[in-house]
Amino acid sequence: MERQARNIPEPDIAVLRDGERAAWFTACLLQRAASEALSQAPVFTIALSGGSTPMKMFDLLSTAPQFSNIPWDRIHIFWTDERCVPTHKQESNYGNAKRHLLDKISVPLENIHPWPVSLPHTEGAEAYENELRTFFRLSKGLFPAFDLMLLGAGTDGHIASLFPQDPALEIQDKMAAAVEGGTPFLKRLTLTLPVINNSKRLLLVLTGMSKAKIFAKIISDPACDLPAAMVRPLNGKIIWVVDRKAASIFLHADC
Ligand code: 6PG
Repeated sequence: MERQARNIPEPDIAVLRDGERAAWFTACLLQRAASEALSQAPVFTIALSGGSTPMKMFDLLSTAPQFSNIPWDRIHIFWTDERCVPTHKQESNYGNAKRHLLDKISVPLENIHPWPVSLPHTEGAEAYENELRTFFRLSKGLFPAFDLMLLGAGTDGHIASLFPQDPALEIQDKMAAAVEGGTPFLKRLTLTLPVINNSKRLLLVLTGMSKAKIFAKIISDPACDLPAAMVRPLNGKIIWVVDRKAASIFLHADC
């Protein structure tokens, strides 16, 4: 099997009945990861993905009593990527997280680290890299290790704002990149693969029929050149959280 030949570990996959339950499960994983990490460390760092998938989870985290004990004052929130649009726009990943989560929980402003979209494109990437270097107290050449990173995947297999065949996928000496792409096609800012793969815990969350084909492809052909297949944490753990619709092709494929 390709996976063994290339020493790619078997993935942990959680299949939930529907998108609601997938959001609930992801929120529970976040809550447990934070609780475990904060028993050993003063702060917990998380990088949130963008797009529409995380919104259900944001709404649960900000409203469900089960999650009211999450110590947001000890959690620092970053983003895996951002679209270079004003934060009031619906395309803004930070703006959506603010509307669905941040405005409804008590989290100190200094714990929130949005990408600087008001800066010129490449300056924004450099500024975020500097912010990461300062926050994680990193000397040159080292990369941050987020306690938890949430990622979605596009139907084309992109993650964050790392799109198939994009030169940004080759970056090994920077934490952040200024790119263009996606739907809507926009200037974007994104973490690079060395940062993503340095995370301690990675949750890839895919729901809905539109993700069935890409999920089956990535799991059945882990050595393919799609960005989502390049998520291979060096020391961390990766869990795929999918609903039955996104898993429908994979579950019915010949094993
Ligand atoms: C972005 C996201 C992106 C997203 C996928 C899935 O800014 O576009 O970070 O990587 O996770 O495109 O998006 P949906 O959740 O909307 O399907």
